[in-house]
Amino acid sequence: MNPIHTHTTLKLTKRLRRLRHSESMRALVRETRLSADMFVLPLFVCEGEGVRREVPSMPGVFNLSVDQAVRAAEEAVAAGVRSVLLFGIPDHKDDIGSSAYDPEAPVQSAIRAIKREVPGVLVITDVCLCEYTDHGHCGIVIDDEIANDPSVDQLVRASISHAAAGADIVAPSDMMDGRIGAIRQALDERGFENTAILSYAAKYCSAFYGPFRDAADSAPKFGDRRSHQMDPANAAEALREVELDIEEGADIVMVKPALPYLDVVTRVKERFGYPTAAYHVSGEYSMLKAAAQHGWIDERRAMLECLTAIRRAGADIIVTYYAVDAAKAL
Ligand code: PBG
Repeated sequence: MNPIHTHTTLKLTKRLRRLRHSESMRALVRETRLSADMFVLPLFVCEGEGVRREVPSMPGVFNLSVDQAVRAAEEAVAAGVRSVLLFGIPDHKDDIGSSAYDPEAPVQSAIRAIKREVPGVLVITDVCLCEYTDHGHCGIVIDDEIANDPSVDQLVRASISHAAAGADIVAPSDMMDGRIGAIRQALDERGFENTAILSYAAKYCSAFYGPFRDAADSAPKFGDRRSHQMDPANAAEALREVELDIEEGADIVMVKPALPYLDVVTRVKERFGYPTAAYHVSGEYSMLKAAAQHGWIDERRAMLECLTAIRRAGADIIVTYYAVDAAKAL
């Protein structure tokens, strides 16, 4: 006998499927929503003019000269994305990362140009030395070690120079101890008390930064970043990092990468209640791109699912190379 015709009707008081019955019903009870203004678009700014060079391991992401970075910011704003995060790729690198605070370097020039030509856009700058040192480390190397305090001095110089060029937010990503307090104090002493600090507070030593180092030409020439970036196995330590950065004056705290660390995002948001950002990093982006290029996943759905998961975990702000695509897809 055909079971379809002989089934019993269960006497259920709860049927959770009712609320999944139509798209209007699903939209009515949806718990998590994305909006374009929570996205931050990273831009890699290089020297020259008219340069728009695709990063091989990050399809759809480009090294851009200042004029092209301005166009990218315009495109972002047109799609509803209101914040950009600038990374510099200078021609000149040395052992102290001096281009990080050169007022004519790509980032400083891009800050001024974007502020001038794209009104309303929020300019955030990555503060680190790895894109500026010839050895590719995030700080000053002394006796094969990344020396904390001398590195902080350099990060302070970079932050001041970004603020002086007009950055709204400086975002230290180096993971040196004490840099948030030092940067806050130096900014305040120079009248930049309205320049905010987004701290990469819980930044893990992750394999998912691989494609970024391709984009920013910042892979370390020797050694690795394990003496300053966090061990992926630790979460309680992330809370200590965040707590210290807040004490030192961070306005926004970030967890990075995003998807492999959603538990950390949730705990940081619940514990501190601060504006919390998560960085959907290069490797997370490139994995989706590569699978999509093979036809193995539906890129649009996978992208929105990942970003929704990051939001659901508690992130208020998502840094993602998908910012413009996602904003258009909403
Ligand atoms: C350091 C920095 C890195 C990223 C952001 N800032 C690289 C690193 O720590 O090696 C990674 C971002 C990404 O992978 O998308 N300036």
